[in-house]
Amino acid sequence: MASRLCFTFTILLMSLSCLPCHAQLSSTFYDRTCPSALSTIRGAISAAVSREQRMAASLIRLHFHDCFVQGCDGSVLLDDTSSMNGEKNSLNNANSLRGFDVIENVKAQVESQCPGIVSCADIVAVAARDASAAVGGPSWTVKLGRRDSLTASRDLADQNLPRFTNSLSELTSSFSSKNLNQRDLVALSGAHTIGQARCFSFRDRVNSNASDIDPEFARSLREDLPCPADGSGNANLAPFDAVTPNTFDNSYFRNLVDRKGLIQSDQVLFSGGSTDSIVNEYVRDSSIFLSDFAAAMVKMGDLNPLTGSQGEIRRVCNVVN
Ligand code: HEM
Repeated sequence: MASRLCFTFTILLMSLSCLPCHAQLSSTFYDRTCPSALSTIRGAISAAVSREQRMAASLIRLHFHDCFVQGCDGSVLLDDTSSMNGEKNSLNNANSLRGFDVIENVKAQVESQCPGIVSCADIVAVAARDASAAVGGPSWTVKLGRRDSLTASRDLADQNLPRFTNSLSELTSSFSSKNLNQRDLVALSGAHTIGQARCFSFRDRVNSNASDIDPEFARSLREDLPCPADGSGNANLAPFDAVTPNTFDNSYFRNLVDRKGLIQSDQVLFSGGSTDSIVNEYVRDSSIFLSDFAAAMVKMGDLNPLTGSQGEIRRVCNVVN
């Protein structure tokens, strides 16, 4: 009897001590506290994408760069302070990551309706979903209830975000450290069916004589864009998908098969390795790509959220309260 009581007590203690780590996100999180939140975000994102199509790409990327550093906690939105180097000036984000003004604008609208309720991290997650839908991509149910971080980290951003020079095995281990498998990696990379990259990100690739790049594709980027080997033109922009640059479709994968991946980390997904078959599958059937992308975005959105009483709900997204 005594040992049974002791066992029950131990189980009770274990489950109590685990309460914070079991806090769950939920799609109905704001239903009672801010019922207008989701429609306000949708309206603002649809307006922003109508003003500039590329913004859809920028917002999807913003969610990715938030989630891969400290989890999906809005850390990417924080400005540097005298005591903290934030993520905005990290290697992958400086002069590149966009959409901050759109998120601040949405946050201001939502704050005026329900002050102190909706986190910046959730706004980024919902904005990514609405941005995808606005350019013909898939939609999905966003789980909510993330809270905002009190810190950000340039060092972690430098360490955790994958680089355009990464090999397939480096990308695979980067994603697997976030509990995302190779199928998730290929599906999520399909976000490069929209948006643009700077010459800085593909100079070496288009100025090499590598066998994994179509020679005419390389020439036109090198000379017409131009993105020459001499280091000039760093900020010149090329679409990831020259075929349908603003439509969320599967032509990114067709481009990879044609050796027209813009950055190195795109082309390594179709280079005789273990992900070729996934790329081929997405070329054959775009509906599989679209549903895998949606599922992988949900999985990515689950990365280490702050919940319960962790973190805070920021009043504005670029500084802590
Ligand atoms: C697999 C590893 C990845 C690498 C190495 C990578 C790298 C890059 C690079 C270098 C750029 C261009 C930046 C510039 O030149 O300014 C870019 C843009 C972009 N990335 Fe990725 N990316 C990866 C995965 C992802 C994922 C998982 C997503 C979203 C789910 C994503 C979404 C985007 C989008 C939409 C753009 C265009 C943004 C715009 O036009 O503003 N990327 N990425």
